[in-house]
Amino acid sequence: MHDKNSPIGVFDSGIGGLTVAKEILKLLPHEDIVYLGDTEHLPYGSKSETAVQHFALSNSGFLISQDAKIIVIACNTASAVALEHVRHHINLPVVGVVESGALSAVNSSESGRIGIIGTKTTIRSGAYTKAINKIDPTSKVIEVATPLLVHLVEENWIDHNVTLDILHEYLAPLLNENIDTLVLGCTHYPFITKQIKQIAPNLTLVDSATAAASSVATLLEEKKISTTQHKTATISINLTDIYADTETLASSFLGQPVSAQLVEVE
Ligand code: DGL
Repeated sequence: MHDKNSPIGVFDSGIGGLTVAKEILKLLPHEDIVYLGDTEHLPYGSKSETAVQHFALSNSGFLISQDAKIIVIACNTASAVALEHVRHHINLPVVGVVESGALSAVNSSESGRIGIIGTKTTIRSGAYTKAINKIDPTSKVIEVATPLLVHLVEENWIDHNVTLDILHEYLAPLLNENIDTLVLGCTHYPFITKQIKQIAPNLTLVDSATAAASSVATLLEEKKISTTQHKTATISINLTDIYADTETLASSFLGQPVSAQLVEVE
């Protein structure tokens, strides 16, 4: 049974969600984390809502079996299409990166013109527009799917001219709409903030990973379930498939060496 000193459960379609885990560790250095990356079913960003909902529920079940005290859906795609599904079926508080990113975007934008970039499934769902308009119905939200960016980051083509060219194409419709704030609506995009800033220096960038970490901190306080431990937190990393380079890539996402455990998720 979980208690205050149980870990925070975090899941993602793969290792990208370690960007969220990293922000949680930074903000809450005493909270242990149990992380699940569903590398076997990666990518979620091009899958149907039904498939992603199914995976999200199985992932939550695994984290519950590891005594998680809350669930954090670090994957934007899963947060976009499966947050309510997970909340409906499990009996733990659930934080999704989309709600957190939406709140942070509304607070950051002065003009109320907000751009979103994310995977095809995230953008098709319109989840960011709904979440932003729920907080502020007057905000104008423009969403653009940017599916190539995940691959460019994973190939480490971050400082490549091709990435800048692709970003120019992707950002043009958003900049034409005079947005002042852009939500990085995918686990991988914090790695290309420098390149986005190069193209659009005046945009305020909202990182859904840092936004989610502050939602987690607020939730733990509200529910009075913060850890009473003072030791440095541990993070256990579980993956449903491990292939060449997985751990190297995971280490660069987390910013520390990663040794992953292969697990089966029902
Ligand atoms: N983790 C996904 C997201 O944040 C990106 C990778 C995928 O498509 O599974 O949307």
